[in-house]
Amino acid sequence: MEIKFSDLELQEVDKIKAKYPTEQAALMGVLWLAQKKFGWFSNEVIAYVAELLNLPPSHVEGVVRFYTMYYKKPMGKYHIQVCTNVSCMLRGGENIWLHLQDKLAIGNMERTEDGMFSLEEVECMGACGGAPMIAINEDYYENMTIEKVDKLIDSLN
Ligand code: FES
Repeated sequence: MEIKFSDLELQEVDKIKAKYPTEQAALMGVLWLAQKKFGWFSNEVIAYVAELLNLPPSHVEGVVRFYTMYYKKPMGKYHIQVCTNVSCMLRGGENIWLHLQDKLAIGNMERTEDGMFSLEEVECMGACGGAPMIAINEDYYENMTIEKVDKLIDSLN
């Protein structure tokens, strides 16, 4: 894949930049856009973002490494986040987390061999009222049980 934003995405970059007093302050937002488009941060993606914001690549790399929400390696087509924070844990989130690791035979921040799924244990995602919850890419699924999770995952195969 060519490491380049489309014209539309570049307009989005400009909009993000316009919200801040300096181009550099737009880094987090632009990184988010880059992850959405390229999937993870290879050296090429880091260099591209650095160029867009007139920053040294080492600075961009430092930020990417600091925050767990930015991926340092390719994740699955379906990235599954499982909340094991207090509300979710008390309502079975921990069991869902253990079950999914077992079912997919991968651990935290790992990807299945076919590239379909990756797993991440996360802190509270602000959906405690629907605990236990998981997220798959950008969709939230609440009041989950192991049975519901299985049904959901199997439907994505
Ligand atoms: S504790 Fe899981 S969403 Fe808040």
